[in-house]
Amino acid sequence: MSIARLARPEIRKLHAYDAAQQVDDTIRLNANESPVASKVGNFRRPLNRYPEVRPRNLQRALARRFGCGTEQLLVTRGSSEAIDLLVRTFCRAGRDTVLTTTPSFSMYRHYADVQGANVVEVATLAEDDFHIDVDAILAACSDATRLIFICSPNNPTGTILPAADLERLLELRGERSAVVVDEAYVEFSRTPSAIGMLDKHPNLLVLRTLSKALGFAGARCGAVAGPTDVIRMLNAVQAPYALATPVVECVEDALQDEQLAAAERAVERIVSERDRLIDAIGDFDFVRKIWPSEANFFLIEVDDAEKLMRHCADRKVLLRHFGGDLGNCIRISVGSAADNEQLLSALRSLRGS
Ligand SMILES: Cc1ncc(COP(=O)(O)O)c(C=O)c1O
Repeated sequence: MSIARLARPEIRKLHAYDAAQQVDDTIRLNANESPVASKVGNFRRPLNRYPEVRPRNLQRALARRFGCGTEQLLVTRGSSEAIDLLVRTFCRAGRDTVLTTTPSFSMYRHYADVQGANVVEVATLAEDDFHIDVDAILAACSDATRLIFICSPNNPTGTILPAADLERLLELRGERSAVVVDEAYVEFSRTPSAIGMLDKHPNLLVLRTLSKALGFAGARCGAVAGPTDVIRMLNAVQAPYALATPVVECVEDALQDEQLAAAERAVERIVSERDRLIDAIGDFDFVRKIWPSEANFFLIEVDDAEKLMRHCADRKVLLRHFGGDLGNCIRISVGSAADNEQLLSALRSLRGS
């Protein structure tokens, strides 16, 4: 059985938007577009025309890159949009539940709140290195649990859910919940993508983004991979023409071999800078703990987070302090070697202050 049956009944019946036909070498008098091509920008496709309803070449290229079938993937406006589409597709307001671990990426809760879905949070603990406990997740599930979001590597802790634990969760929840693995940071980690498990686990969905390792946060492009019948439903919910022509062209260029090789070199540099920063920051006596990370950021605990944040901001370095359960923890994104030096220099002057 497919997890498509867990979707909202009205979405299961929904058809994709019936867009005006687009055929090359024809005169298009069917879409109320302007016949006048603008001279703005330097694009391969005319901006007076709508983009493709779904960017097929990009879909093929991303599916190839991520290692799934073209029909198993939907291109989205960042993976944020994929989270929104999933919640809107699977959750009835006031009835269905989204399960997340905490601390984690806040957009799972945000989109659940927008949809009016219930949220169940399973805490992971600092003293346990934010270990994601599959048994605790299973115990927190109910018949209403439609989506289980697992962020791996997790933002903001950098924690991984090992493949064996993920398999256990997938098997034990079976067709009762969709398990969504958010792999925004997977390129920085040693753990392989869960996309390789799609064919074995029909309740698995995987989110990917071009915002992090590929360096295209400004282009707003991501993807969700999963069973073809679920992807068809998400496609029906997504706005037509979601990916704008400039974005499609920019991402097509970003996926050329030379660009990909440059992105891979950048990931290597960021990972080595991360390890260098972690070593250097470990020497400061106001740093109580640094958690291991498989992402392009890491979490530290300090004596006085607010003081450190103020001190760094005064020296033009912004860090992220979440407060709440994360108390005196601060998340540090790894920058360029020069950025990281500026951070270290700010921290050195804090030691002396
Ligand atoms: C875990 C996680 N998922 C998804 C996103 C959203 O990324 P995108 O830029 O693809 O919308 C972020 C952004 O910070 C993130 O940390």
